[in-house]
Amino acid sequence: MSERWDFVRLDGEKATLVVALEKGGAADLVYLGARLPGREDLSALAAAQGRGRHESQPDAPPVPGLLPEPKAGWMGSPAVALTAIEDGAPIALATDFRVTSWEAEETRLAIRSADPRLGLECVQTWTLSAGDVVRARTALSSTHQRPFWVDRLSALALPVPPRFTHVTTFSGRWAHEIQQTRRALGAEGLAQGSAHGKPGFGGNWLILDGPDTGEALSAHLAWSGDFDTRIECDRPGNSDGRAILQMAPRLTPGEIALAPGDTYETPEAVFTIAPDRKVLAHNWHRHVRAERLATGSPGAPRKVHVNSWDALGVNLSEPALIALAEAAAEVGAERFVLDDGWFAGRRSTATSLGDWFVSRDVFPNGLTPLIDQVHALGMDFGLWVEPEMVSPESDLYRAHPDWCLHSESDERPTMRGQLVLDLARPEVREAVFAQLDALLNEHAIAYLKWDHNRDLFPVGHRHAQTMGSYALIDRVRAAHPEVDIEGCAEGGGRIDYALLERCHRVWPSDNNDAAERVRIMQAWSQFLPLEVLGNHVGPSPNPITGRTLDMDFRAKVALFGHMGIEADPRAMSEAERKTLAAHIALYKDWRALLHSGDLWRLDHPDPHIFAQMVVGGPRALAIAAQTQFSPQFDAAPLRLAGLDPSASYRVTLPAPWPARASLYLDQPERWREGLTLSGEALMRQGLALPLTHPETTWLIALERCEP
Ligand code: GLA
Repeated sequence: MSERWDFVRLDGEKATLVVALEKGGAADLVYLGARLPGREDLSALAAAQGRGRHESQPDAPPVPGLLPEPKAGWMGSPAVALTAIEDGAPIALATDFRVTSWEAEETRLAIRSADPRLGLECVQTWTLSAGDVVRARTALSSTHQRPFWVDRLSALALPVPPRFTHVTTFSGRWAHEIQQTRRALGAEGLAQGSAHGKPGFGGNWLILDGPDTGEALSAHLAWSGDFDTRIECDRPGNSDGRAILQMAPRLTPGEIALAPGDTYETPEAVFTIAPDRKVLAHNWHRHVRAERLATGSPGAPRKVHVNSWDALGVNLSEPALIALAEAAAEVGAERFVLDDGWFAGRRSTATSLGDWFVSRDVFPNGLTPLIDQVHALGMDFGLWVEPEMVSPESDLYRAHPDWCLHSESDERPTMRGQLVLDLARPEVREAVFAQLDALLNEHAIAYLKWDHNRDLFPVGHRHAQTMGSYALIDRVRAAHPEVDIEGCAEGGGRIDYALLERCHRVWPSDNNDAAERVRIMQAWSQFLPLEVLGNHVGPSPNPITGRTLDMDFRAKVALFGHMGIEADPRAMSEAERKTLAAHIALYKDWRALLHSGDLWRLDHPDPHIFAQMVVGGPRALAIAAQTQFSPQFDAAPLRLAGLDPSASYRVTLPAPWPARASLYLDQPERWREGLTLSGEALMRQGLALPLTHPETTWLIALERCEP
């Protein structure tokens, strides 16, 4: 790096980022890592990273930097790809952006680059915000004399520091969300994306780390449509061993046209760096808590839900719903969510989406009597909707058959018997808004479960569709700011920070089988704090997996999240209801901590033990759930985390205890009284809890003792 470079440094709480900028040249990353001393000499830092040209490079080696372009021999994907029409034929515009200026504040850097020949300007803005999370976006403006199309614009292009040699990616399917794979980053790099019109069941986060899983770097595109994530390593022309990460929304050719005077701005990409994956989760949680959660009642205690779906499906009647509400209130539920089946002719999932008026067959006197009854039981009322969809068998479709997404050939392939509304059209949004607005005006509805149950095809990943969805949700929020919204897409098919900005919580999975759920919750909770992750006690046997599970296990697992019931308490035994009620009471006691403290993942040598704890102020609560039969009879002790090593803690095991496992406690009376141990002993040696049998879960409560 020559002397022509200037340097900008952004400092977060625990991280530092240094960028080199050359007027008339490029911008490049010099440092990304733990916070550097204030006196660090930035030009020496850059010199220590610099490399001379090697034999097989262009004479002026390319600097892909923060805006990779092919112009000087970079062979990876360009950050900006544009198509124009020349003499009737499409041609790719070859860009040559040069840095013209930058604005640097304490935690914000905006870099302007221009290609005067094409009349283009690119502004990349990076803001270092809460949780040491960098929010990055790119805006492209044109004064080009002719219109052209944007095929690709990266929200983020980040040279990956070479010490990050491994990548963890996530994939998933319905009811089995967010499965992770970690591998070495090879020359093939990484190409990942979605084509369903939403991020999909794996979300779109990735994590980079080193061979020994130390320091971790994670990135995400805050975008509820399709994404395109690439890491390109060691390509010819960039054979310096560096890898460039790029994140962009996936654009449909021909969709984003820029006329002279227009600007297109990408959604935001975010990234953060931390000393390990546990702290990485804290960074993301701080970010979500400080900058994303805005709707409804973010600060209020998260009410225990009861949701009608797994209890009643679409076979609804007012008496059955009231009976469910009564039984749920008795065990401690605080919010009654009426799921699918309440509207128009929706007596099966094949009809009536788009007709958002109360079914007179199910509710001859409207919804109000049920809502009044729910209120009388001390609960508030929530309602399921799927506003982005339409059933071919609906009044809306009959009146406006052209309002759904369809191709020129007029094919209308359905999924779950339904079609997708074309939300790019203002009149479609207007019609859906008017129905939702009327519903919310006419009824005391505190909560909407906003679902999205199909992929977008035949005309798929359209930017305008996602923007249309945002416009609709935003309008509903603006008109009814007190209503909490839950984001759901067949479970966890559309979970991202842009949606979360519009929601109170998300629905991580339709899979309420606690043996599955505990893994799903732990996986999402790397990126999302527990309070936004709905977690319900499902029925047994479970309708998706068929597994039969003990209530103690189901209820303890559901407590670590935003707890709810998605089963019919009337179908439970008296003993089960008592166990459920006891755990709901525990949830109410601990939710303030669970929803504000630091979440620590606890490692255990048995991969089927899922353990986490939340630490906040003088209290902490841990959970350890065994899902399979342990290979060792005496499972290794559970080592805690996040405690003050020199402080003393009184440790108890909140009752009810898992019945079979408690028989194997050595001195149960000592546990009942509580054991006082130092943070050091708890974190280093841990607690030898009986965790041998499948369906065993322990809760561990800690109270810091006054010195
Ligand atoms: C989706 C949701 C479920 C439920 C059903 C109703 O599958 O994920 O929780 O609301 O729709 O049809």
